[in-house]
Amino acid sequence: PVKWAHSTSTMADTTKDDTGSLKEQLAKVFEVSLKVTVPDEPEVLPLIAPCSRKEAGDYQCNNAMSLWSKIKGKGTDYKGPQPVGQAIMRNLPASDMIESCSIAGPGFINVKLSTQWIAKSIQKMLIDGIDTWAPKLPVKTAVVDFSSPNIAKEMHVGHLRSTIIGDTLARMLEYSKVDVLRRNHVGDWGTQFGMLIEFLFEKFPDGKVNDQDIGELEVFYKASKQRFDGDAAFKERAQQAVVSLQGGEEKYRKAWAQICEISRKGFEKVYQRLGVHLEEKGESFYNPFIPGTLDLLRQKGLIEESEGAQVIFIEGKKIPLIVVKRDGGFNYASTDLAALWYRLNEEKAEWIIYVTDVGQREHFEMFFTAAKRAGWLPTDENKHPKTSHVGFGLVLGDDGKRFRTRSTEVVKLVDLLDEAKTRCKAALVERGKAAEWTPEELEQTAEAVGYGAVKYADLKNNRLTNYTFNFDQMLNDKGNTAVYLLYAHARICSIIRKSGKDIEELKREGQIKLEKDEERKLGLHLLQFPEVVEEACTNLLPNVLCEYLYDLSEKFTSFYSECQVVGSAEETSRLLLCEATAVVMRKCFHLLGITPVYKI
Ligand code: ARG
Repeated sequence: PVKWAHSTSTMADTTKDDTGSLKEQLAKVFEVSLKVTVPDEPEVLPLIAPCSRKEAGDYQCNNAMSLWSKIKGKGTDYKGPQPVGQAIMRNLPASDMIESCSIAGPGFINVKLSTQWIAKSIQKMLIDGIDTWAPKLPVKTAVVDFSSPNIAKEMHVGHLRSTIIGDTLARMLEYSKVDVLRRNHVGDWGTQFGMLIEFLFEKFPDGKVNDQDIGELEVFYKASKQRFDGDAAFKERAQQAVVSLQGGEEKYRKAWAQICEISRKGFEKVYQRLGVHLEEKGESFYNPFIPGTLDLLRQKGLIEESEGAQVIFIEGKKIPLIVVKRDGGFNYASTDLAALWYRLNEEKAEWIIYVTDVGQREHFEMFFTAAKRAGWLPTDENKHPKTSHVGFGLVLGDDGKRFRTRSTEVVKLVDLLDEAKTRCKAALVERGKAAEWTPEELEQTAEAVGYGAVKYADLKNNRLTNYTFNFDQMLNDKGNTAVYLLYAHARICSIIRKSGKDIEELKREGQIKLEKDEERKLGLHLLQFPEVVEEACTNLLPNVLCEYLYDLSEKFTSFYSECQVVGSAEETSRLLLCEATAVVMRKCFHLLGITPVYKI
């Protein structure tokens, strides 16, 4: 293969901008060359990817082939993709990122990055902080609509998935400096409230209720449903109650607000445990905007009469989107259209992300299409504002069926979290930690590891696939689990502690060198963090970040088993590498909503 070393290039270094991910920085270097190589094709974007064969190099540029097919037959002097690739290589500006390049196959350019540059970049991050590694995204404001349980019904495992996945996505966007509106689109409106309110009046004629009086809202819901189904007169009163509630009658509004408040307290407990923050704008919030929203759609000629209902026909779909029911009432879809209008126009969101089970895909596809037809959203998916439905699969039990507790009720979230914590605590006690640590430390660690394990077991799967909920698996301290990763991080922290060195001082005065192969591999992996977050964010796939984190701890293990740290001649450099690994791991934990632990 043809070899090229950057020192032979005579072009000025025009790539002094060292912000952005490694991939972006490399792309900027190649962009300069592409402009020179094919001046008549100014719009060519550099195609940069990690090398598929690691022996060939670190990254490769894949432009030669596609460029050749663009320019051939248009009077070009190039004789094929290979010469195009060679020219791209020749025209590269001097860059201290690149150690050498080689050409392979039909013009692929393999790049070996400068080891010194990798080391320097890591050290720079240690000094300036990991926030300087935040990816840049093309949006300023985003809505993440997640969790969104329904009033008077228990939050179930599906809502747990939505809460965990949504929180991670919000965290990744926030890290990327996007203003994120974390929206809890609570189901707090609808005809079921008629029956709930009527039942409440029946049980508490003076309308005064305390939380304890209602007890479990789910039980209350079931009892009122039974009443509704079993008694025609009650049913009639319940239907009348809906009208009174929607008409804004005070007595009914109050009862409704009370029921919502009791539910809210239950939800809040789960959020607190999970460390998830959300701002509630439930379905009722958008209710006043529905008539205006539908008028706008009517003006665009989108709404038609069909079998007494008002609907929007969507191409390719057999059943239209119903926006006004036959009885004149609004529904889930009309609320979502009003919410979308509000988010676009009042909140100026450029990206609106909805996290629900895949079962709702059709609903989202339909109203997204309606919004495009109304001209609210561009038809080009790459343009903003845009909407994304983040679907996820089911949580299964060991029997391969939908996860339920013994009583075949839906699993209660709080119980799950309790059990994870209890099991972690038992494992820690077994390791003798009760004698070593304070009770608070034991408690906090059990919580961090237990809740972290539940979250990670969910996030590590591609969200679209179903996964089996299994405590033994997720709490295993070996393999791809939060327990293993949190312990790995704690061990790194302990290496640094035991060295007795002041890491802040080392950062300023020491220097990272990546002499051994394992050191370089670890270093390069660290540097790939920004582009991984960017990918996870852009494609809304938290598992990409989990894979990266697991890989990182594996690469650290190889490094640690090959390279002595404390007491070696390279101690300073290797301690800094340990610190950089710990910093990146902590950022991953943070983005995944997992609390790190520092000793184990
Ligand atoms: N409350 C709904 C459910 O439990 C989820 C709401 C999702 N968000 C939305 N804007 N539709 O299924």
